[in-house]
Amino acid sequence: MLSDVRVAPSILAADQLRLAEQLDAIETADYLHFDVMDGVFVPNLSFGPGLLEQVKRHSNLPVDVHLMIADPDRRFAAYLAAGADIITFHYEAQLHAHRTVWAIKEHGAKAGIAINPGTPVSVLDSLIDDLDLVLVMSVNPGFGGQTFIERSLKKLRQVRDMAARHGVNPLIEVDGGITADNAAYVTKCGANVLVAGSSVFKSPDPEQAIYEIRRATQLGCGKRG
Ligand code: DX5
Ligand code: ZN
Repeated sequence: MLSDVRVAPSILAADQLRLAEQLDAIETADYLHFDVMDGVFVPNLSFGPGLLEQVKRHSNLPVDVHLMIADPDRRFAAYLAAGADIITFHYEAQLHAHRTVWAIKEHGAKAGIAINPGTPVSVLDSLIDDLDLVLVMSVNPGFGGQTFIERSLKKLRQVRDMAARHGVNPLIEVDGGITADNAAYVTKCGANVLVAGSSVFKSPDPEQAIYEIRRATQLGCGKRG
């Protein structure tokens, strides 16, 4: 259903010196996407639980925390304590993914697993029954503003089909290079949570940019990739 599509602006692309104002500009979004980078799992650093706590005090949006960090098992609790609503960690970063999923859920948050562009969807076959969210990375994680990788469309379809085969209904999130131009295609392939960093925050009117992404999914229009 097209009306099920949710938009999750990534504050990585926001002007950090005007963050409160930028949060006010995305009140019409469905989630706030909070990218955590540790300089180890990905070659960049972003922010941590301290900022999350402040963001939660300012914004009413549910926060979708994307942990691009090594050893998430040791770190996720700090984000839960800071108010994370959904915690997504990378399959590639965690040896005991199943245990981490359940540990997050036992703490009362929703649990997601992200897969990098180079990781096949098949790794999720033994995990998908327990997941609230699957995140298909459509760029290599670490930086905003990269170009959407076209092959992610096939992976989204594979996740959608795997979920149907298993009789489960996790959120299917796509992250990286999402714009109003490719929003309809990712939605058609099964995504129902669209992370958008640059296309929202580099726009002079973030609220309008969110509206345009939603509208594209409803009209089914735009360019591929
Ligand atoms: C990439 C991050 C993304 C990023 C998306 O490592 O996980 O969430 O902020 O930014 P755009 O939409 O600019 O590709
Ligand atoms: Zn992200």
